[in-house]
Amino acid sequence: MVDSLRSPLPPGEFGLPFIGKTLNFFTDPDFASKQHAKYGPLFKTRLLNKPTVFMKGPEAIRFLFGQEGDRITVTWPPSVEALLGPLSLALQTGGVHAGRRRLMAQAFQPRALEGYIDTMVSISDRYFQQWAQTSAQNGSLTWYPQLRRYTFDIACKLLVGLDNASETELGDLFEVWGAGLFSLPVNLPLTAFGKAKRSRDRLLVALEKLIRDRKQSTRSPATPDALELLLTAKDDDGNSLTVEELKDQVLLLLFAGHETLTSALTSFCLLMAQNPEIRAKAEAEQSDLEDKRLTLETLKQMTYLEQILQETLRMVPPVGGAFRQVLKTCEFGGYQIPAGWMVLYQIKQTHRDSDVYTQPKKFDPERFNLEQSEQKRKPFSYVPFGGGIRECLGKEFARLEMKIFAAKLLRDHRWELLPDQNLDFTIAPTPIPKDGLKVKFF
Ligand code: HEM
Repeated sequence: MVDSLRSPLPPGEFGLPFIGKTLNFFTDPDFASKQHAKYGPLFKTRLLNKPTVFMKGPEAIRFLFGQEGDRITVTWPPSVEALLGPLSLALQTGGVHAGRRRLMAQAFQPRALEGYIDTMVSISDRYFQQWAQTSAQNGSLTWYPQLRRYTFDIACKLLVGLDNASETELGDLFEVWGAGLFSLPVNLPLTAFGKAKRSRDRLLVALEKLIRDRKQSTRSPATPDALELLLTAKDDDGNSLTVEELKDQVLLLLFAGHETLTSALTSFCLLMAQNPEIRAKAEAEQSDLEDKRLTLETLKQMTYLEQILQETLRMVPPVGGAFRQVLKTCEFGGYQIPAGWMVLYQIKQTHRDSDVYTQPKKFDPERFNLEQSEQKRKPFSYVPFGGGIRECLGKEFARLEMKIFAAKLLRDHRWELLPDQNLDFTIAPTPIPKDGLKVKFF
C-alpha cells in the first residue's frame, strides 16, 4: 500500500491568490499543452479558487476512471452546476446515478436508434436544400450557426417530439443559457450568468408544459422519442421520475444532444474540405455501396467513413476534458493528489500522445484501419466519449447522427472553403472555427 501522504505534490504553478490561472485557462487554448510541456503529464495549478491537477495520457485516464465513485467523484464549475440543475444525471452520484443511467439508456438502445434514422434523414434533406439555396443566393454560407440549428432540431424532435425547435422561443432560450454555462457565476441582470439563469427558469417552464401535456395525452407520438420512454420508465424501486427531475434530465439531454455534435460536424466539414484526397476516397466508398439505404446495418459497412469520424473526434474532441473532485487523497505517477482538490482529465492532450499515435498532429484516418488500429496500442488512449461509469450516455446517438449526416453530405453535396477567414479553433465551450466556417455549398 502506497503512503500517499509521503509523495510530493505534482509540479506546477498556482498563480495569483484566488483566481490562480483561471483566466489563462479560459482565454488561452494552449494553456494545458504549454504547462504539460514544462511539467510533464501531471501538473498542478489553481482554477476557480481550487487547487487543480491536470492529468493526461492513457495511464492517467485509466487510473481516474478506475477510482471513480470511491476516491474521485464528478464536479463541474459552479456556473455549470447552477445551470444544469441539481437533479441532472451529470451531477448525480452513487446508486442514484447508476439507476438513472440504466433508465435513461433505454432511449439510446439499438431499437430506439433504428427508429430515429428516418427523422435524421428527413431533417438532413430539408437543411441541405436550404443551405444550397442560401449559398447560391448569397455566394456563401456561414455553416456553424446553421449546423447548430440542424443538431438542435434533431435533438428536440427525437428527444422531446418538437418540430423545427430552432425557430421557436426554445431555440433562443437555449442560446442564452449556453452562453452563460462557462462564466463567472455572478447573477446580475447583465452578466452572461444572470441572463442564462433567467433563461433556465423560462426553459423549465416550457419543459414543464411539454411534459405535462405529454402526460395528459392519450396518444403516443408518431415518432418515438426519449421523453415518451422517460415518462413510462420506472426506477429500480418501481417509481417513475418526478416532473421536477424530468425537467432537469430533459434539459441535460437537449444540451448534451446538440452542443457537442455541432462541434463534431463542423470539424468533419472543415477537415474534409482541407483533405480532398480523403474526401474523394470517402465519396468512392459511398458510391460503391451495393445497398444505398441508411440502416444500422448498412451504416456499419461504411468502414472508411467510420475511420474518418473516429479521426475527427481524435483530432478535435468536442469535449476537451472533464473535472473531477478528489474525495480521498490518492497517489498517481509518484505524486500525491490531496482530498479536496480538483482533477481535470484531458481528452485532447491524451489524443496527442506520440507514444500511441504516429504524427499525432496529422489528420490520418488510416491510423484507425484494422491493421494499424493505433488506438489499441494502449487502453484508454482514445476517449472522445469519456469512459468508466460516466461514459457518454448519448455515444451511439452521436455516432449515428454523425454518420448519417456525413454519408448524405458526401453523396449529395460539395463544399469549398472561402478565402480570407480565420479557421483557428476557439473554445465556445466546444471547439469551433473562429469565423464560423464560411463555405460555398452546392
Ligand atoms: C460527438 C458528440 C458527443 C461527445 C464527443 C460527447 C462527449 C461526452 C463526454 C466526454 C462525456 C463524459 C464527461 C465526464 O467524464 O464527466 C459525456 C457525458 C454525457 N453525454 Fe455526451 N457526448 C456527445 C454527444 C452526446 C449526445 C448526443 C447525448 C444525448 C443525446 C449525450 C449525453 C451525455 C450525457 C447525459 C452525459 C453524462 C453521463 C453521466 O454523467 O453519466 N452526449 N459526453
